[in-house]
Amino acid sequence: MEKNWGKVEKMTDEELEKLLKELQEKIEYDEEYTFSEIVIREYRNPSNFGVLEKPDAIGEIKGPCGDTMKFTLNIKNGNIFNAQFWTDGCGATIACGSMLTKIIIGKTLETAKKFTSSQLLLALDGLPIEHQHCPTLAINTLKQAIQNCHID
Ligand code: FES
Repeated sequence: MEKNWGKVEKMTDEELEKLLKELQEKIEYDEEYTFSEIVIREYRNPSNFGVLEKPDAIGEIKGPCGDTMKFTLNIKNGNIFNAQFWTDGCGATIACGSMLTKIIIGKTLETAKKFTSSQLLLALDGLPIEHQHCPTLAINTLKQAIQNCHID
């Protein structure tokens, strides 16, 4: 590491820019090789990222990996009419939150709470083995929010 840092310090701006471009291309290649197109699309441009100002239901869970996920919902007559998610976790978790909020908006609480992590995994066209727990974190956080809902 120290050896590489020494090399970087001596680089010209042009060499540094070239190295950064190569690294970026490698990251993008690795992403495309590792993740489905849907996952990449969802985490690069997530929907419903944030925390609702006046939520009717809140769920927040820290997963076994140390990442936290939060869901806030607005509910009327048993229907979820708005949902946002927040996470400090990995790209796969962002993709899970984005996809899950899109799925549950417009659904009844009864329907939303039956949705499973396997269904979320399918909706994302799969995830690598090391990210299989990410949909579970998203689903558990949603379920906690629904359980904590203080509206009929
Ligand atoms: Fe922790 Fe995805 S939720 S790695």
